[in-house]
Amino acid sequence: MKKRINLCMSVFLLTLVPFMAFAQSKLVVNTLQEESTINKHIYGHFAEHLGRNIYGGIWVGPDSSVPNEDGYRLDVMQALIDLEIPNLRWPGGCFADEYHWTDGIGDPADRPKMVNTHWGGVTEDNSFGTHEFLNFVNKINTEAYITGNVGSGSVEEMSKWIEYINFDGVSPMAELRKKNGQEEPWNLTYWGVGNESWGCGGNMTPEYYANEYRRYATYARDYGGNKLYKIAGGANNWDLNWTEVLMKTIPLEMMDGLSLHYYTVTGSWENKGSATDFDKEEYLETLNKAAVMDDLIAKHSQIMDKYDPEKKVGLIIDEWGTWFKVEPGTNPGFLYQQNTMRDAHVAAITLNIFNKHADRVHMANLAQTVNVLQAIILTSEDDMILTPTYHVFDLYKPHKDAKLLPHFLATEKVVFGEQSIEALQVSTSKSEDGTINISIANVHPDKKIEIDVDLIGMNATKAEAAMVSAPQIDSYNTFEDKDVVKKEAFKDFKLNKNSLKVTAPANSVIMIQVK
Ligand code: AHR
Repeated sequence: MKKRINLCMSVFLLTLVPFMAFAQSKLVVNTLQEESTINKHIYGHFAEHLGRNIYGGIWVGPDSSVPNEDGYRLDVMQALIDLEIPNLRWPGGCFADEYHWTDGIGDPADRPKMVNTHWGGVTEDNSFGTHEFLNFVNKINTEAYITGNVGSGSVEEMSKWIEYINFDGVSPMAELRKKNGQEEPWNLTYWGVGNESWGCGGNMTPEYYANEYRRYATYARDYGGNKLYKIAGGANNWDLNWTEVLMKTIPLEMMDGLSLHYYTVTGSWENKGSATDFDKEEYLETLNKAAVMDDLIAKHSQIMDKYDPEKKVGLIIDEWGTWFKVEPGTNPGFLYQQNTMRDAHVAAITLNIFNKHADRVHMANLAQTVNVLQAIILTSEDDMILTPTYHVFDLYKPHKDAKLLPHFLATEKVVFGEQSIEALQVSTSKSEDGTINISIANVHPDKKIEIDVDLIGMNATKAEAAMVSAPQIDSYNTFEDKDVVKKEAFKDFKLNKNSLKVTAPANSVIMIQVK
């Protein structure tokens, strides 16, 4: 049956050749060929002790004049609940490898202070620690992903942290947790063994880290029925050798996930582009650098396939997103940047790529949640704005836990100067109830695009759609005007049983759901 459908699809695709002139674009979706499940954890987030992410972003403390519940900002908390984020990574990033968890428990007045050497050299008072994080995770109905300290910590320290969080019985760490007000264990699942151990996490060689991982992972115990999902600190960008050495050295049964970090840097690390001030060529440079994620995942997966053909170990992209120059006048160590419609397109392109590789990519975490890098939320005193990136995550909710569907796309290219990219960026999936989800980013800054969509195997009766769009590629939300870029209903499509005609406005991201 599957073979016949594939054959039909190939014959059908041949009929598309005339569309190659691109009077309009063509999208063919095979609604019968369900592939891997798109793990909802691909839509995860990351909150490091960095800048105003935790302090001022998530946590203001119970005595703050900013409206809060037990110290958590009400506005940010509600925005994260509404977004239904599947997981939140904490406490770093680079911060994780100099964080000593025992400094962040007990009476806040007695907690020792430390210097946050990586991020602005500010004093960290440890008022947001294990309890504050795990209780926050419960309040926003998400799952915690904690990264333990390998760089400056010890096996004993990490092992005791896990016992403190997860052991439901009589033990020194469980008693300490109870004394600090938490009777029940939190039953945490996701555990990272160090962060960027090739750099800020200890400047290790892959061989050295792989052995360290084996040692640390041995003492990262499962308690009761709770099984830890252990994630090894993975490669930076194109360091394929890191992945190769770890896959070769760490037994598959000791590792559930292997991470990978990739940031979209416009210009160079030394001279990054501005978050808001860019021309169309630079815009395409950013999008192309985001699209590199496809090849990057393919190459790392190829290596993982050699050692793990059954794809048991997940590739965990636990840091990704745009990294621009900080906003003028802000602390360079706080990594505060604005977020334009260009960031919305980066999010759409990247999430489409993660969906495409759902067989290997089991989790991902955008960097970062509030006020840092490609943030989904920005705050100022007691005010908050949702960024274009937030709205794309909101739009993409239907892809979570849906089955990936194969598609064929023929479209035109956007060209400015030396840069070019396909105007349409698409992902297609099928929800459990049979709804077909089609996300389309039209990244063309000035041209609306007509799309003929064929839905092979569909007899649709109903479709609805929403869109994130903006007047310009550099449009963004401000505290004075919060809805320049927002999510709204989209109506410019016509449904006819097994086909759709869609007109995608310039500079838009659309989600169409067909039933
Ligand atoms: O997200 C900012 C930093 O980028 C993280 O702390 C680190 O892991 C990465 O280099």
